[in-house]
Amino acid sequence: MPDASDADLLDGQALSQAVRDEVKADIATWTDDHRPPFLSAVLVGDNAASKAYVRGKEKDAAEVGIETETHHLDADTSQDELLDLVHDLNDDASIDGILVQLPLPDHVDERTVIDAVSPSKDVDGFHPENLGRLMRGTPRYIPATPYGIMEMLSRSDIDPEGMDAVIVGRSNIVGKPLANLLLRRTANATVTVCHSRTKDLAAHTRRADLLVAAAGQAAFIDADMVKEHAVVIDVGINRVDAPSTDRGYRLVGDIDFETVRPKAHRITPVPGGVGLMTRAMLLRNTLKAARLRAESA
Ligand code: GUN
Repeated sequence: MPDASDADLLDGQALSQAVRDEVKADIATWTDDHRPPFLSAVLVGDNAASKAYVRGKEKDAAEVGIETETHHLDADTSQDELLDLVHDLNDDASIDGILVQLPLPDHVDERTVIDAVSPSKDVDGFHPENLGRLMRGTPRYIPATPYGIMEMLSRSDIDPEGMDAVIVGRSNIVGKPLANLLLRRTANATVTVCHSRTKDLAAHTRRADLLVAAAGQAAFIDADMVKEHAVVIDVGINRVDAPSTDRGYRLVGDIDFETVRPKAHRITPVPGGVGLMTRAMLLRNTLKAARLRAESA
C-alpha cells in the first residue's frame, strides 16, 4: 500500500497516452495529403521478450494510424540473408522506418546489421550517423528509450538543469545517448555514467538528484543507494520467477521499488513506466521518418 509520504509515480501509462494522442492527431493531419507512415520490423528467432515487444509495437502503431509489417525470420537465418532483407527494405520507397529488434542471435554481428540500415530510415536511432548527430547536438532520430525518459521529465515539469544526474549502465541504446541528451544546453544536467567496473557505485548513486538505472539487474539498487528526494528512473525490465502467477514470472526493474519509493521524490514503476514511453517515442520517430522521406522525394 502506498503511504502518504511515498514518492509520486511518474506514470508511464498516462504520459505515454498523451504522446500517443499527439502522434495520432499529427498523423490524422499528415494523411490528409500523404499515405500513412509505414514501419517495417524485423524479428530474428524466438526470444520471448523480443516477440512481446514487437507485438506491442504493432499494436501501438495500429492505434495511431501507422501501418506495419513484421518479417519474422528463423533463428538460424544467416547474416547475409538478414543483410539482404535490410537492403531490400532500404530500397523500398513504400517503407518509411525500419526496426531490427535486438538482441540478434549470436552468429549475427549486431553492429554490421545496424550499420546496414539506411540512416534516414533508422527509427531506432542506432546507426552511427544518427548517434553522431545526437552527440554533436543536431539529432535526427533519438533512440526511443532515452527520448522517452526526457519526455517523461519534461511532461512532469522536472527540469534537469543543475541536477547531478547519475546513469547506471553505459549501453549504446540507453546510457550513452541519455548522457548526451542530459548534457545538451537544453537540459544542463551534470552527468556521471556508472557501469559494471565502477568503484563504489553507491557513492555515486547517493549523490544523484536524478538517478537512472539501466543495468539489467533485478532490484539491485536499494534505498541505501538513493539520495533522499531523488528523481528515480527505472529502465530495467527483468523477469524473475514467480511460480504462483499464471505466467510463472513477474517483471521487476533495476530499482528495489518498495524500499526506494518512500525515499524518492518521483519514481517510475515497472511495468508501466519507461517501457511504455519507449514504445510511444518509436511512433513519433516513425512519423518523422515519413516526413523526411516526403521531403527528400
Ligand atoms: N531491444 C531492446 N530495446 C530495443 C529497442 O529500443 N529497439 C530495438 N530495435 N531493439 C531493442
